[in-house]
Amino acid sequence: MPIYHSLGTTPRKRHVAFRQPSGRLYTEELVGNMGFAGPASLIYHVHQPTEVLRVEPVKALAWAADEETSFRNRHFRTARLSPTESATADRISLLFNKDVALSFVQPIEDDEYFYRNAQGDEIVYVSDGAGVLESPLGRLVFGRGDYLVVPRGIVHRCRFTERPARLLVIESTSFVRTPRRYRNEFGQLTENAPFSERDIRRPADLETIDRKGEFPIVVKKDGRLTRVVVNHHPFDVVGWDGYYYPWAFNINDFEPRVGRVHLPPPVHQTFEGDGFVVCSFCPRPYDFDPNAVPVPYVHENVMSDEVLYYATSEFMSRKGIEYGSVTLHPDGVAHGPHPGRTEASLGAKETNELAVMLDTFRPLRVAKDALAIEDPDYYRSWIEQDGPSS
Ligand SMILES: [Fe+2]
Repeated sequence: MPIYHSLGTTPRKRHVAFRQPSGRLYTEELVGNMGFAGPASLIYHVHQPTEVLRVEPVKALAWAADEETSFRNRHFRTARLSPTESATADRISLLFNKDVALSFVQPIEDDEYFYRNAQGDEIVYVSDGAGVLESPLGRLVFGRGDYLVVPRGIVHRCRFTERPARLLVIESTSFVRTPRRYRNEFGQLTENAPFSERDIRRPADLETIDRKGEFPIVVKKDGRLTRVVVNHHPFDVVGWDGYYYPWAFNINDFEPRVGRVHLPPPVHQTFEGDGFVVCSFCPRPYDFDPNAVPVPYVHENVMSDEVLYYATSEFMSRKGIEYGSVTLHPDGVAHGPHPGRTEASLGAKETNELAVMLDTFRPLRVAKDALAIEDPDYYRSWIEQDGPSS
């Protein structure tokens, strides 16, 4: 994120001798992406982060694709999934391509280990639950409706204080950032952006833990998990500064846009990565022209696959969906309001819908894991049986 942040104690200059009270040097570490040219932070450790005792394979992650190739609109019900133990090791794969992957998890336990995703950035949408995301860079308190953005490579763990926890995980092979058009040439969010830096929550309460022992970090890389055991607590940081850290943004801090007539989904955009965007559909007044049609017109996506996660059971243009539904409307097939929904929307003043949309520019594959919760008749749900109904 293009906001400079600093916690704890750092030396006056980069790359100079910085000593502990004992006289020993602190270990300076650069974390970031895009080599030495991308966003990064400099972190000062009591111990060397390179002190690895041993590595052990944990498991390969299942991202097998559905072999059924007939393409159609699809619907998956995450509310039908059983809770699992871990927020990081037991995610249920839903949809994926080479740019982005979508999974869902309802963890009932806090992980005993630390976690580091070394193959992608994560956006974790907290549909339910609350807790603290702990990292060597400080604590990030989170709750319902938060997007937790964790850049690749950052060791962290979540401690839940409220359950059930329901997490939608968007994993990106590229750097997750705010939309380019929201930022001026200096990187600041402009007055036209639907949120500001004030809405972006950064780590706080840095605590330095200087403790020797055996501490497992589960690392995700090459589609598998590996346990890396280090000889000291990984939260041994006395200070850091830079632009690379976990951050949070709550969906309810998104300022929705309303027009005299219907505005298209890009007005809801919240994040971007290479090959995809994420949008937030929030409660808002409807379009204010007396003849406006509030629900969207039928559209056939142009070079994009459109995924919606329904964060409430209310959604203006759909029937048959429920809280936790995930729909996939792929490029090349039309979709739009269900029968009767357009007529029923006329004159409506507001909507309470809440949804997260993932639009990808390359086709998505359906994961085999998702088939168990698929509504197989969804693609036929636009057929009018007995004339328009609500
Ligand atoms: Fe759409």
